[in-house]
Amino acid sequence: MRRAVPVALCVLASLTAPATGATDAAPEAVAATTPAAHDAPRAPDPGRARALVTLLLHDCGACHGMKLTGGLGPPLTAAALRDKPPDGLVATVLGGRTGTAMPPWRPFVTVAEAEWLVARLQAGDLDVPR
Ligand code: HEC
Repeated sequence: MRRAVPVALCVLASLTAPATGATDAAPEAVAATTPAAHDAPRAPDPGRARALVTLLLHDCGACHGMKLTGGLGPPLTAAALRDKPPDGLVATVLGGRTGTAMPPWRPFVTVAEAEWLVARLQAGDLDVPR
């Protein structure tokens, strides 16, 4: 774990730039997904989608395994997440889990982005245009 932290911080630092730069788009994205929780989350723009998948594979992968098949954290594969309510998973991503190593990601991803990431994980589809 200790070894992975500088890598994580490095990737996170690069992520904060697009996140703060797109402040005008963020509230709209959140509002668009809030009323209709059962609609598929709206996809972020392609550049942000790539950044989010990179975050997933590098930062989340540091604990959940580079292929997300489990490590310090449980697997985040489609099979492992299939029967879990998306809302709970989104809450875990945003708020972390107190008393465990799972940290909160709210400073780095919006609600809409967390919903999109969980939907991608549950679908087992992390293919974004590169
Ligand atoms: C420092 C280690 C660490 C990092 C980094 C991390 N997680 Fe976790 N995560 C955990 C641990 C440990 C758990 C299990 C917590 C528990 O025991 O309930 C967990 C649980 C979860 C769960 C719930 C899984 C389930 O089956 O209920 C999800 C979803 C999740 N993490 C997503 C992510 C995402 C997405 C990222 C990156 C944005 C991430 N995690 C980064 C350690 C980590």
